[in-house]
Amino acid sequence: MDVDFSGKVVLVTGASAGIGEAAALLFAQYGASVALVGRNEKNLLSVTKRCEQSKGNPALAIVADLGTDAGCEETARRTKERFGRLDVLVNNAGVTARSTLQTADMQTFDTVFAIDVRGVYNLTRLLVPELIKTKGNIVNVSSISGSMVAVGSLPYSMAKAALDHFTRVISLELAPLGVRVNTVSPGVTISKIVQRVTNFTDEQYNEFLNEAAGAIPMGEVCTGEDVAKMILHLASDNSRLVTGVIVQVDGALQYAKLGNLMKKQVK
Ligand SMILES: NC(=O)c1ccc[n+]([C@@H]2O[C@H](COP(=O)([O-])OP(=O)(O)OC[C@H]3O[C@@H](n4cnc5c(N)ncnc54)[C@H](OP(=O)(O)O)[C@@H]3O)[C@@H](O)[C@H]2O)c1
Repeated sequence: MDVDFSGKVVLVTGASAGIGEAAALLFAQYGASVALVGRNEKNLLSVTKRCEQSKGNPALAIVADLGTDAGCEETARRTKERFGRLDVLVNNAGVTARSTLQTADMQTFDTVFAIDVRGVYNLTRLLVPELIKTKGNIVNVSSISGSMVAVGSLPYSMAKAALDHFTRVISLELAPLGVRVNTVSPGVTISKIVQRVTNFTDEQYNEFLNEAAGAIPMGEVCTGEDVAKMILHLASDNSRLVTGVIVQVDGALQYAKLGNLMKKQVK
């Protein structure tokens, strides 16, 4: 069964790059009107334009920092003003940090939690009344870091573990109201997120991806589109009675091997 988002409004956070960009483009390709959030205006406008051109449906760019209450409030307000409804909320925006208990200062902890946990909680809280009206659904983008026990990104691992539990608990709260809540948990996925925190050159990043592929029994790291396809599957009517699940998209990644690679990246 194919997916169809015609007539639906989908909000994708972190749509200016990586997995969010791939998801936004795929939702637009399958007929959705999209609201896209990110801080990098140039990148966000470029993705928005490509979404509009895909099937001619409207696409709204919202430049906002979801690590702030003002950014979450503006995102919710502008989405409601522009479209008057919301069918799918994709909480994808996220940041990481390569750090341990001994190396991370509280600023790192606060930044990661502000965006990866507080921002998701706040935006979801602000928009859940719209999702109840449409009997819509939420897809959170977590990480295998939320369940794998490895040294190298402590606040991020904790934040994603919190996000996983957020999914489980609110899926139960919202199920009687007809709102589904699921999570996609990517393994190593090609994007800018690692280079943002390691300052790797492209060559060093490619070397990391090659090494990571060695820790993946299926032999390949993921692309943004691999993850985006699962986001659309969970958001679609094909998953009508699926809620509270955490789906890993990781090629059967072996945690211990990846953990060793990440540990090497801590400064
Ligand atoms: N790539 C991986 O290997 C991997 C693995 C597991 C999980 N994930 C998760 O997948 C999600 C997407 O990451 P990615 O790999 O696609 O990384 P990415 O290329 O760095 O993209 C992250 C996105 O989040 C946005 N963002 C970050 N902070 C924000 C803020 N304060 N307010 C608004 N937008 C913000 C960024 O936009 P701006 O820069 O424009 O603000 C960007 O669009 C994240 O939640 C990440 O934890 C990624």
